[in-house]
Amino acid sequence: MNLEIIVLAAGKGTRMRSRLPKVLHKLAGKTMLQHVLDTSAKLAPIQTTIVYGFGGDQVQSSCVGQQLSWVEQVEQNGTGHAVAQALPLLSDNSVSLILYGDVPLITTSTLQGLLDSIDSTEKLAILTCDLVEPSGYGRIVRNEGNEVIGIIEHKDATDKQREIREINTGIMAVSTQLLRTWIPALSNDNTQGEYYLTDIVALAEASDIKIKTHQPEAVCEIEGINSRSQLATLERIHQNNLCEYLMDQGATLLDPSRVDIRGELTVGTDVVIDINVVFEGRVDIAADVSIGPNCVIKDAAIGKGTVINANTVIDGASIGAHCSVGPFGRLRPGTELKDGAKVGNFVEVKKSVIGAGSKVSHLSYIGDAVLGARVNVGAGTITCNYDGKNKFRTVMEDDVFIGSNSSLVAPVVIAKNSTVGAGSTITKDVPTDSLAIARAKQRNVEGWKKP
Ligand code: UD1
Ligand code: CA
Repeated sequence: MNLEIIVLAAGKGTRMRSRLPKVLHKLAGKTMLQHVLDTSAKLAPIQTTIVYGFGGDQVQSSCVGQQLSWVEQVEQNGTGHAVAQALPLLSDNSVSLILYGDVPLITTSTLQGLLDSIDSTEKLAILTCDLVEPSGYGRIVRNEGNEVIGIIEHKDATDKQREIREINTGIMAVSTQLLRTWIPALSNDNTQGEYYLTDIVALAEASDIKIKTHQPEAVCEIEGINSRSQLATLERIHQNNLCEYLMDQGATLLDPSRVDIRGELTVGTDVVIDINVVFEGRVDIAADVSIGPNCVIKDAAIGKGTVINANTVIDGASIGAHCSVGPFGRLRPGTELKDGAKVGNFVEVKKSVIGAGSKVSHLSYIGDAVLGARVNVGAGTITCNYDGKNKFRTVMEDDVFIGSNSSLVAPVVIAKNSTVGAGSTITKDVPTDSLAIARAKQRNVEGWKKP
């Protein structure tokens, strides 16, 4: 079965009060539209068509590099009118799955369930949901035999019909060929003067096509966003679900309401995550890792048994097993910590390798450097990697000891087992097994009178 995905995203989103088109507002760090695209891509469609209205340039540039078809709906004359814009692009012999760009938490399994309910005889399936508070939604009208015979919009419904709790989520799967015959037959003779896509249900019923329904696993899947308040509510629900999943995987969250996951996070067993930790991008955490409070961790892999202490910011780093970072550590892109390495407080590391068992414990900047194993970098050490124009490399081989408050002016190599005396400014390579001291000699003036 060829699958066409149509994403309706032309609504203005007035209630967001934003210059940004509504579908570009982010949930869990990703635009609402991208949530829908990622979820529906897993169904392997032959084409995905986005019906956009406002801020077309912005919406399209948010999706660069993705295989998508775009169609503009200049005036928003209803969901039926929106689908009509996409029709010319669709292939015959396909099923069209209609999604909303502002309903971000729909899941692949619910959509698969909807698609599975259509076979060769039943060519229309709608995703419905029983709500305690159905006000505002279109209602599913059924006959005595419990068969769906139509959808009535809230604004067009009688008081009796408004008592119906089964609502139309707006998501439906329909034979593209039938859609082509039904869409031109829609009229806008209703309270809103819009072409309702939902009216195809009555047309299907009139041509004796059995209408299937399917329900989502959770209500949040079908919730649409019209305001920033609704966005915040859905964000919380989503974060809660993500945290439940992490706990199921064996992680301890000291307070699941104070962890935010804006990307993809995997955890091993017995991981402990303290409060106010934000994860972004792709983060993989091995077993027995402990993460202190107030950390921001982005695009990182953290090995078994490593401890990330409080207030540490990590971006684009690969951290081995049994390492220790922070408190107040900062690991920037291109940082690699080998097993057992330590990066202590107020230490910034950029594009550098810290070898196995090596320590940079206090107040240092390590940039464009390669440290071998068991290197000890004293407090206040700076790699002077930048001359204002170019970046240069610093190498500290195995078992090197750098005394406190040293400046290592790159390019420079401190060879194996050498020591740099505290307060040195090292501008020349240091050979193996030696001591380098590069600082002014101390002079004591005895009996000196203070001015
Ligand atoms: C629609 C359904 C209603 C359902 C509800 C679920 C119709 C007629 N009604 O209501 O049965 O309960 O969704 O939320 O379909 N859109 C366009 N172009 C338009 C109009 C809408 O692209 O001209 C898009 C919107 O951006 C949005 C979606 O379609 O993503 C739904 O529009 P919205 O106005 O929120 O829903 P209703 O029409 O009120
Ligand atoms: Ca509307």
